Amino acid sequence: MASVTLVGVRKIYQEGPRARVAVDGVDLAVLDGEFVVLVGPSGCGKSTTLRMIAGLESISAGTVRIGERVMNDVAAKDRNIAMVFQNYALYPHMTVLENMAFGLKLRGLPAREIDPRVREAAALLGITPLLERRPRHLSGGEQQRVALGRALVRKPDVFLFDEPLSNLDAKLRVQMRREIARLHRELRATMLYVTHDQAEAMTLGDRIVVLNGGQVQQIDTPLETYRRPRNTFVAGFIGSPAMNLLPGVLVRHGGLRFRADGDAFAVDIPPVWERTLAPREGRPVILGVRPEDVRPTVGAAGGGGMAGVRLRLDLVEPVGQELLVSAHSEGGAQEVTARLAPGSQVEPGQEITLSFDPDALHFFDAETRKRIPAP
Ligand SMILES: Nc1ncnc2c1ncn2[C@@H]1O[C@H](COP(=O)(O)OP(=O)(O)OP(=O)(O)O)[C@@H](O)[C@H]1O
Ligand SMILES: [Mg+2]
Repeated sequence: MASVTLVGVRKIYQEGPRARVAVDGVDLAVLDGEFVVLVGPSGCGKSTTLRMIAGLESISAGTVRIGERVMNDVAAKDRNIAMVFQNYALYPHMTVLENMAFGLKLRGLPAREIDPRVREAAALLGITPLLERRPRHLSGGEQQRVALGRALVRKPDVFLFDEPLSNLDAKLRVQMRREIARLHRELRATMLYVTHDQAEAMTLGDRIVVLNGGQVQQIDTPLETYRRPRNTFVAGFIGSPAMNLLPGVLVRHGGLRFRADGDAFAVDIPPVWERTLAPREGRPVILGVRPEDVRPTVGAAGGGGMAGVRLRLDLVEPVGQELLVSAHSEGGAQEVTARLAPGSQVEPGQEITLSFDPDALHFFDAETRKRIPAP
């Protein structure tokens, strides 16, 4: 096993006279045995980063090290890395056993060494009964296990996964996600895993790397990323449904007050924030509040002494265990999503008063979009 270190890694694709920066100076230190997940929107450079580590793509600038060794000019086959892709393309004319053994055969390993390795990996993945079958006689999840097995038998220093589960249906994804987590616990292997599935990122990663536009936005444990997003991008990207990000101004009204949409939308800011936010009085700010921290107000006063904001409901989505609602302020400038109890009696078009948990407010600088540290 080994660590993986990226320092100032860049990838520039040349398209005729135009240069496109796909990865823009990524610094990342993956510890030996760590599970790191790369997340971010489509086109943010996740696959390119992984492919540079694997040696499938040249590195325009910076260095990639595996363990102590600089890998920039080392051929992919000499990096002792195994990569599992979304399209795992098993050989259709080979059995599961042959598929798993193929890479080792190519490398000239003798059959007496290959066989136990394949059987060990098959046992670990629970596919021993499938070894004599051909891929077309397997379900999607079974095929994905074989693809994992093919990577396992190589006993690589580092596993790279590029959205390996995105072809599977929702239920299988959850099952395979747990398998991969278990494999990681058992093997203690270094793993880098690309996904744009939040749930995968949050549940699998020791740490997650949020990328946008080829740049690292935050590297932290999943919980820390959720609790203390460093900027509005991470705040809006991690968490589902996304955090409400409300642009407004800080005004003085006895205490500090967040105001938007004229006076139609006003939230009294809890006194703990006074010292942190007072210097920003009169200036624009972005208030962040997660849908799970928004509650309907019963009666006049809101929870925790905060008055609620009156909004009109646009959308009510019953999703079983909860009710997702979105509502807008009178001027229409603010849109708030909330997660309510499943039995809540609400209908689109109706007025509703929502209040925000005073202990769960986030503030961001309107210009830099950076988090204003909580007091
Ligand atoms: N071979 C290439 N030539 C030119 N541009 C490329 C090439 N491969 C990728 N790009 C560009 O580089 C950027 C990053 O691509 P990349 O495949 O790394 O994104 P990604 O984060 O993996 O996205 P997705 O979630 O859609 O897989 C994109 O803007 C993409 O269009
Ligand atoms: Mg990709």
